[in-house]
Parts: sequence; structure tokens; C-alpha cells
Amino acid sequence: MEQIQSVTTATVESVVPGDEGKDKFKKCDQIAFYRRQKQLAGSVQYHALLDTLEVSETHAELQLQHTHTEACLLLQVCGIKGKAVRVKINELKPIRARYEVPDVLIGEPVTQRLRAEPRGGGTVTLSAEEGNFQVQVRGHPFLLEVECEGEVLVSMNAQGRLYFETLQTPPTQGVSSVDRGEGEDSQGLWKEEFKTFLDVKANGPSSVGLDFSLHGVEHVYGIPEHADTLRLKNTRSAGEPYRLYNLDVFAYEIHSRLGLYGSVPLLLGHRLGRTVGIFWLNTSETLLDIGSEAETEEPPQKKRRVVPSTELHWMSESGVIDAFILLGPSPLDIFKQFAALTALAFDSVQWAEVPVHWSDMLAHCGAGSQALPPLFSLGYHQSRWNYEDEADVLAVDAGFDQRDIPYDVIWLDIEHTDGKRYFTWDNKRFPDPARLQRHLQHRNRRLVVISDPHIKVDPDYTVYRDASEQGFFVRNRAGQVFEGSCWPGLCSYLDFTSPHVRDWYSSQFALNKYKGSTGTLFVWNDMNEPSVFDGPEQTMPKDAVHCGGWEHRELHNLYGFYQQWATMEGLIQRSKGAERPFVLTRSFFAGSQRFGAVWTGDNVASWDYLKISIPMLLTLSITGISFCGADVGGFFQDPEPELLVRWYQAGALQPFFRGHSAMQTKRREPWLFGEENTRAIRDAIRERYRLLPYWYSLFHRAHCHAEPPVRPLWVEFPGEIQCFEMEDEYMIGNALLACPVTDAGVTEVNVLFPGSGEFWYDIRTFRRFEGGTNTSVPVTLDSVPVFQRGGTIVPRKTKAGRSTACLSSIPFDLTVALDSEGCADGELYEDDGRSFNYRTKQEFTLRRFTFRNKTLSCSCADEKGQFQCVCSVERVVFLGLEAKPSAVIVQQGSGVCEKKKTFRFEEETSMLTVEKLKLKTVHSWELKIK
Ligand code: NOJ
Repeated sequence: MEQIQSVTTATVESVVPGDEGKDKFKKCDQIAFYRRQKQLAGSVQYHALLDTLEVSETHAELQLQHTHTEACLLLQVCGIKGKAVRVKINELKPIRARYEVPDVLIGEPVTQRLRAEPRGGGTVTLSAEEGNFQVQVRGHPFLLEVECEGEVLVSMNAQGRLYFETLQTPPTQGVSSVDRGEGEDSQGLWKEEFKTFLDVKANGPSSVGLDFSLHGVEHVYGIPEHADTLRLKNTRSAGEPYRLYNLDVFAYEIHSRLGLYGSVPLLLGHRLGRTVGIFWLNTSETLLDIGSEAETEEPPQKKRRVVPSTELHWMSESGVIDAFILLGPSPLDIFKQFAALTALAFDSVQWAEVPVHWSDMLAHCGAGSQALPPLFSLGYHQSRWNYEDEADVLAVDAGFDQRDIPYDVIWLDIEHTDGKRYFTWDNKRFPDPARLQRHLQHRNRRLVVISDPHIKVDPDYTVYRDASEQGFFVRNRAGQVFEGSCWPGLCSYLDFTSPHVRDWYSSQFALNKYKGSTGTLFVWNDMNEPSVFDGPEQTMPKDAVHCGGWEHRELHNLYGFYQQWATMEGLIQRSKGAERPFVLTRSFFAGSQRFGAVWTGDNVASWDYLKISIPMLLTLSITGISFCGADVGGFFQDPEPELLVRWYQAGALQPFFRGHSAMQTKRREPWLFGEENTRAIRDAIRERYRLLPYWYSLFHRAHCHAEPPVRPLWVEFPGEIQCFEMEDEYMIGNALLACPVTDAGVTEVNVLFPGSGEFWYDIRTFRRFEGGTNTSVPVTLDSVPVFQRGGTIVPRKTKAGRSTACLSSIPFDLTVALDSEGCADGELYEDDGRSFNYRTKQEFTLRRFTFRNKTLSCSCADEKGQFQCVCSVERVVFLGLEAKPSAVIVQQGSGVCEKKKTFRFEEETSMLTVEKLKLKTVHSWELKIK
């Protein structure tokens, strides 16, 4: 095996961003299944044998037959309640079972019976009553069309690219000596070479592929993770297809389609009036070619077809075809439909079936979409590779207080361990880690430590010994424990696909097991693609073997998902289900949002990487991974102070907010760049803390309604074409328009204000802008353009505090921004910020604020809530009032207590401020403007 010199601390400085991966990673023409599928694309023909159609309560099925080989496939179509269609294609009689992705869908989706009716022209119609959609299956050649409200939205196999390599028995010659190389197997059927690596395919060729046409759709999004634009590119006219293969790509190239650390094979197509989604549930290496076509309506075509269309060609190395077509029609509907697949709805809880695992139990009680983060994790996180020792941590911690900068968590990277043995401590650097955590806890702060999936080969290391004795490591194709190189040197890799290994791994986090840990220690899973320094493409060989005998190739993209799951489970178990966990992962798959947060890996301290972080995070957000962030400041290289300030400002407006940097970089705690820069960074972080009630309420919506806290403009303004490609502006919830500065030396920013007829208010100057315009807005180093949408009410805290714990005693501040009708709405969610009591004991409060007829009302939005929040609204600011009021009156209870309040009105901005209020958020009250 070739010994790849990985990019380690020694070589890192000489790496040019983007360059490092150039020949370490495959180009698509080096991928055998891609070559095979491309060669035959369009020439393979399948017929649907309509007379084999059978319809049951759960699905309809029929056979597909290859025109030349006569091999038969089984097509299953399910109508999913909530407007989605599932299409599964497998071999009719495979000689061995093919891999079907487990654990990503929490349960079998709830289906409805389809009504089958033959149609003319050798077509059968399968109709779903609920949701008013139909599936048309044409026999010769096979074509499947999904139709909604009389319009064909999606066609499958219109380009004849259905491709299915049926499993075969190995040929008797040519594979017996695995070391002989690809040789005459130039198609890469049983063996495939890359550089000096040889991949031996135990099951031979098993790839699958299918094309989808999205009619009328020109704009497509999703399929993270790539460092690319928000709108996906046409890959037929230029370059490589998008690759979904989880890889450790250091200082990744920007605008590349190489797969990065995680994959969510969900693509969203959007056009005026309709959003559709295609979820391709496959965890093997996957490629997606995207083309656009102009469609012509051919008479006597009866159905309305809109030009143009987007052609998608999905190809996966193995598994089965399992595709979900989500029918929208709105983007928010798509998010819900997708979440419904990876989560169970609260209503469907079958308490008798509550399983033994905490995470399963919580999923069963509705926590299946984005996990509700503990409040502290929405604060600011300070990390670096590495904080040297206890004294260093204490000094950085004190540094924040000395400069009055809020923060919640300090992080320790791999050097905190004894020789990169996770679950241990370097005793010299951290002689008493529990003492350190107690010190931090005393100041209401937490520690996060790293725990990677590779385990140092060392019989004296208990974790290694235990795992080894129990056979918990991934094996190589020869059946021995797989060994590869990573940070500790020679390592073995835990087989997280096994539930036993996950249980065991979870138990390692028990407080009596993980020496030096306390209940305020949280975890970071890194290198879990998995990264193997001397492996092909720096990852695990595809012919490695997991539990159940499955090859790594089948489930590669799911490895990190499983590690984060087991870690999360461990943290929940550690507190016996009392405390919400926090786990950050680098690698992920669809559904990873159930387990915690994701960050975008090893970026670079340059303006381009700051800029690309926005579309990368928006893409993650719209594919379910809502709690995401990028290393603030850039991981690799040193940012100039202006870039660092701008990055803090941008990061403060993104879901996961962590400063992190590589070992060779200069120290960059926020106060090291002079008073002016420190002030700007402090302001950005404080503004984040003040806005946390809004962020937390948004995460509650993400948790319950699958609405991503940050979203592209087109999601909020699906009818405005000028928003479809916008990626440097985005929405935080439905209320705030964020336009971070991502260029050097900028004194003004050109802002597109979406929503014609709407109003936007600058949150600093309170100046009002009209929707549907483009305006230049001046900026200074300490300002970042953020605008509140007319018609919304945003809750903030009046002060930032030292950490999130302080927020519980700081009063609220409401900003009521009026729309053209003089109305506004908002909500506030609160709970204890740390436990599961919001679920198990209904200890939460959800309040609704409405402004109608010049009256602001606070009322209960969910009667089940039992949480008694002590905080009051102290100040309310109204933006966009027409005239100075004559009086402001507060009424609490049922008219018993009415009080006149003093107020301030600023003519220039039409801003009304009412202060010194003591209006409890848990009480109902009205504030009337006369
Ligand atoms: C790679 C991660 O991406 C980075 O954030 C971390 O600092 C290093 N591994 C060392 O653990």
C-alpha cells in the first residue's frame, strides 16, 4: 500500500489552498462505475411489465425487464402521506441481499393505498387520494411520471438512464489473486486501481443509476457538501459531476464539486409557484450530473409542460435505488416532508414501542428533526489547535472577562490527550481536568474535547484493548483488523455501524468511566469520514468489512453519522436522560441533525473562504442540517485583522459560532489585534448574545417544524426571481435580512431588499427601505448590514451578559417593525435551556406577540407549556409608526390594571420607544398606542 504523506503539522505551511487535493482525490473518469454508466447512458432500455402490477395497502409493485438481458427488477411505488412518492428499485431475485440503508429513516414512512387504473397507451395510473397526486407508469419503454394537480412535475427514466448492475457470482479466473491488480478488468468490475491502491470488490459490479427530469425547473440547490455556489451548476456543460463521497480535504478548493466531509443526497428544485425535492437514499459513493434542457410540447400532449427543465442523473456505486420525490409545493413544505422521513411526528408516538435507547425514545417523542441545542451551544465557542495546558485555558477564559467579551465554551483539540488516545488526558498539561471543568462551570462555561473514531493500536490502552477483545474494529478484506495511519500513528477504526459498538462507545462517556470528565464536558467528533492518512483518497478502503459482512463501500457516507449518534447517546446516558447533549461532527449524512451540530472543516483565512461559507451553510440548512457553522477566522493561515473582524461579524449571524485555528497559526484570541478591532469583535459577539432569544426560538421552530433558522432568500421569497441566485444575503428566520461584509476595504454594500411592497428597517440606524429595490448602504468596520422585515417582532435581551447563563435574568427588548398595513407578528420560545423537561414535563413557554390596530398583545401560543420564566419585557421599540402617539397604555389581566407609560418618539425615523416596562413574558398583556 502506498504510504501517503498526510498533511500534518509539519507540512501544513507549504500547502497552497485547494492544491493539496489535486491528485490525492479522484477525478470522475478515475471512477469505474461512473465510466460504465456513462458509456451505456441512454442505450439501456427497460420495459415495465404492467400485467405484473400488484397493489397492497402500503405500496404498488411491478416488474421491470431489461430488453436485452431480460433481467428483471422489482419496482415499488409508495404514496407517502404528507405529499411524497417513494420509488424503490431492486433486483427481483438478487443472488445476495443488496444493502438497504438502515437508521437514516427513523421508521417506515406512513403510506396511503394507491388506486390503480389502466390508461390508454400502455400506461397505468396510481392515484393517491390524500395530497391529490398521481404516478403514471408507462410500459414501453419504462417511464414514471409524478403528477400533481394535473401537472407533470417529475419524470423518471425519460432519458433512459435507468441502470442496474445485477449481482453475479465471481468469475472463476482473474480474481483469485487479489494482488494482481486490475489487469484485464479494465471496466473495474471486480477490481479497481487508484494510484497504488487496489480495491477488490467482493460482490463485483453493483452500481445503480437513474435520471429525473424536473419540469419547468431551472434552479436547483442542495446535495452538500461542496465548497460551491448556492445554486448548483450545470455539470454537463462544464466539468465534473457533483460527488457525494465523504472525504477529509484539507484547505479544500473553492468552486469544486469534489465531495467534502459529509453528504446529504437531497436536491431541491425551485421555480415560480413550486418547489420539489429528490432524496436519493444511498450511502455508497454517489455522483450527480446536472443538465438543463429546453422541453418542447409535442402534440397531442395533453398535459401542461413548462419549459425549460433540469435533468438529473444520479449514479451510486452500490445498494438499491430508493428515491423520494417530495412534492412541496412550498420550500417550507419540502423541509417538513424531508423531516418527516428522518423523524417521527409527535402525533405518531407509540408509547408501547418506546425503545431502550434514550435517543430513540426522544426521537419517539418528537425530537427527530434538528435536535434542540442546549442554549449554551448557541453562544460563542473559543477553540484552537491547541490550547496548550490548564494555565493557557484559564488565561484565555479570564481574558474574555477582562475584555468583557461574552463566551460560553472553550475547546481542546487532540493535544489534550495522552498521545492521541481519546478518553485520556495529557497529565502534564492537564493534571486535574475535573478541577478545570469545575472552574469553568463556576463561571457558567463549558469545555468541549475532541474524540476521533480512530483508536491508537496499543495493547496498554484500555479503549483499544477492550474494543479489540470484543472484535469492535472494522476489518480488512482478508478478515484481519484493519489498521491505518492517523494522528496517533497506527490505528484501528471502531465499527460504529454495529449497535453493540455504538452502545459500548456510548458507555465510554459515563462519568465513572471517562476519568477526568464531568457533566459539563461536551464532545467534538472529527476525522470521521473516516480519515485514514495512508488510505485511498485519505479514507478507508472500500473493501474493508463492517459488521454483518457489509463492505465499507456500501455505507461509507454513513460512518460519521453513526459516530455522532453514539456520542450523543453517550452524553444523554451519562446524565440519565436529564441533560441535552452537544456534539459537533465533521462528517454527516441525511438525518445527522438529530444528533447535534456540523462544521465545514478545514477552511482558509482568506476573503474567498469567508464568502463561500455563506452558501455552504445555506445549503446545509436547507437539507436539514440546521445547526452548522464555519471556523471563524479560517482554520489554516493567519487572517489580517480586518478579515478576522468581518468573519466574527458574519459568524455571529450563523447558527454555530466558533473561532478555531490550526496549530501553526498565530494566536488570535479576539483581543490581540488592537482596541478598535477588539471593540468591533466584542460588539459582534454581544449582538449575537442579545439576539439569542430569537435564535433559540428559531431553533425551536427547526426542532418542531423543520424550518431552518438561516435560509436563502428564495425560501422566504419564492415568487421573486431576483432572489433565486442570491447567496451573499440571506434570512435569519423570517424576520432578519443578513448581509455580512465579505470583501476587504468596503465602505458600502449594495443590498437587494426583497419583497416588493414590503418594508425593511436597518437594525442600527432604524432607517426604512422599500422592498423590491437595490440600495447602497454605508458600512464601517464596526457595522454589518442587518435589516428587520416589516411585519415582524424580534425578541432580544437588553444586555449580553458574560455567558448564556446570565441571560436568564436579563430583561427582554422587543422590536416591532410594522408592515405596510401597520401590523407585525413574532414569537418567543423559552425553557430551562438545558434539559429534556420541555418534552417530558412540558416545561416550556411559547408566547405570541401580535401588533394589530395599534395594540401589541402578548398571548399564549401553546397552552401545554408549564415553564415559569422570570424575565420581563423591559423595552419595546416600534418602527414605522405613522405619527407620534398621544399616549401609550399598558393593560394587564382583564382590564383591571391600566397604566399610562412614558415614551420617546423620534420623528426622523418614526421610532417609538417605550421603556421601564415590567411585562412578564409568561403573562398576557396589551400595550396600546393612542
Ligand atoms: C482536523 C479538523 O478539521 C481540525 O479542526 C482539527 O483542529 C484538526 N483535525 C486536529 O484535530
